[in-house]
Amino acid sequence: NGNFVIAIDGFSSCGKSTVAKALAKKLNFVFVDSGAMYRAVTLYFQRNNVSLSDDIAIQTAIENIHIDLVPLVDKTQVLLNGEDVSDAIRTMEVSEYVSEVSAIKAVRHAMVKQQQALGAKRNIVMDGRDIGTTVFPNADLKVFMTASPQVRAERRFAELTAKGEVITMEEVKENLSHRDHIDSTREESPLRQADDAVVLDNSELNQEEQLAFVVDLVNKRM
Ligand code: C5P
Repeated sequence: NGNFVIAIDGFSSCGKSTVAKALAKKLNFVFVDSGAMYRAVTLYFQRNNVSLSDDIAIQTAIENIHIDLVPLVDKTQVLLNGEDVSDAIRTMEVSEYVSEVSAIKAVRHAMVKQQQALGAKRNIVMDGRDIGTTVFPNADLKVFMTASPQVRAERRFAELTAKGEVITMEEVKENLSHRDHIDSTREESPLRQADDAVVLDNSELNQEEQLAFVVDLVNKRM
């Protein structure tokens, strides 16, 4: 129906959102960080002690959660029931629990619905784990990003320590493999490469090279 949808999926810390953001800016598309939505849900669950074995509590929580992604000049603000939680959702505490919360069917159904609504009429770039397989199986372009485990851990470590988080490289590696494992083995929309996705391994590419690679793919399909 006229709009162009770009899905960018991959394991944790492969640089998906950096590429997605740059691409959206370049094309003047809307950028949607689907992981931020799962992180906001996780923060709500943690703050309200929602038990992952209590289906009714989960359902009630989902009904009480309203997430807005507000595009600002150089970042997207994440609002959880009107509160700016952009920084609060990036802590290790949230990262350690987000994959458990994201594996819950009811949570995924609610988020996927919102994500589909966001991309129904607009030109968008959305990054996540199941965008090309589940959220937009008919996306105009699907990119699956990978990078070596060492590169991923180093990037993540640099990101967290820059924010003042006290953490070891070992803890970062553990968290990445923990999330990758849960994300790719869960029953509901597990992380996997869509058959028609183009692989982008960015272990040895700088940001300009990655952007050029995806822009070229877009140009071929527009
Ligand atoms: O992208 P990010 O690493 O911030 O995502 C955090 C977590 O949210 C992932 O590890 C995964 O468990 C979950 N997620 C998901 N589906 C998506 C995006 C993120 O399950 N589309």
